[in-house]
Amino acid sequence: SFNLRNRSLLDLADFEPRDIRYLLDLAAELKRSKYAGNEMQRLQRKNIALVFEKASTRTRCAFEVAAHDQGAHVTYIDPASSQIGHKESLKDTARVLGRMYDGIEYRGFHQSVVEELARFSHVPVWNGLTDESHPTQILADLLTMEEFGEKPLHEMSFCYIGDARFNMGCSLLIGGVQMGMDVRIAAPPGLQPPAELVASMHVLAERTGARITIVADPLKAVAGADFIYTDVWVSMGEPKEVWAQRIEQLLPYQVTPALMLATGKPRTKFMHCLPALHNLDTELGRQLHEQFGLTALEVTDEVFESEASIVFTQAENRVHTIKAVLVATLA
Ligand code: CP
Ligand code: NVA
Repeated sequence: SFNLRNRSLLDLADFEPRDIRYLLDLAAELKRSKYAGNEMQRLQRKNIALVFEKASTRTRCAFEVAAHDQGAHVTYIDPASSQIGHKESLKDTARVLGRMYDGIEYRGFHQSVVEELARFSHVPVWNGLTDESHPTQILADLLTMEEFGEKPLHEMSFCYIGDARFNMGCSLLIGGVQMGMDVRIAAPPGLQPPAELVASMHVLAERTGARITIVADPLKAVAGADFIYTDVWVSMGEPKEVWAQRIEQLLPYQVTPALMLATGKPRTKFMHCLPALHNLDTELGRQLHEQFGLTALEVTDEVFESEASIVFTQAENRVHTIKAVLVATLA
């Protein structure tokens, strides 16, 4: 059966492909009922803690809106206004929150922290992003691909391009392989996913029918891809000193109109988890523009603003998929 009640979502690999399938179907159903105005509240009287040790717009808001739609109450906790880490250990915090809340979302640095939180809180813990993993983002991405792809996921291909060592590259690899997709990763040597993860994904691919291609050549990687996906070149928690080297390594991997054409498919869509440095009209963007003279980083403004771009549907789908996770694990 598909009983996910009381389960934590620490990493996509904790779940079976059929669990992911169940969550995507539930998310689509919840999305339809929200649009139709007949959503049933299945999380009344539930209390949810949202712990963020890194900044967030989408993940925080998606958890808040999803919980509210379902009748649950949330408390937002940031490190500056709580005792976490400064005065109180995570283990103690976990035991306190577990006594008060029905579930805990956690965004932070190391995967080991979200694991410890789950171990000691005894309530479902949902990973809202760690350095290594961003499972709720991938659920939204898979739902979005399903909505735009006009065929089943196992017949689709996507190419993740950029720094593939971190949360986005690794979690997309796992989710794509779980759903039996044609998964390509284009990254320079040194920025490719950890060998251990790749090896385990090759084993899983034999079971799911997925294909895995990890290459340095972006043109080779995108050929035939239904979706091109990229992420920021420097992730949260990395020092700003790495920008110079990262730009040098990743400039050939910038998503440009030419790269979109290189798929050979007229309907290839562009995806990004956001936030994106597509124009440099932000505080960070202006600094980077001044320092490096660029007008865009991982994706050009032209691609980002084009018809092919489905990034805001991805962002919206964070709500529906996070809601599915909350309902499946708590209701
Ligand atoms: N994509 C994503 O997780 O965005 P936030 O950092 O704004 O939550
Ligand atoms: N890799 C990015 C993803 C942001 C959603 C980061 O960790 O900052």
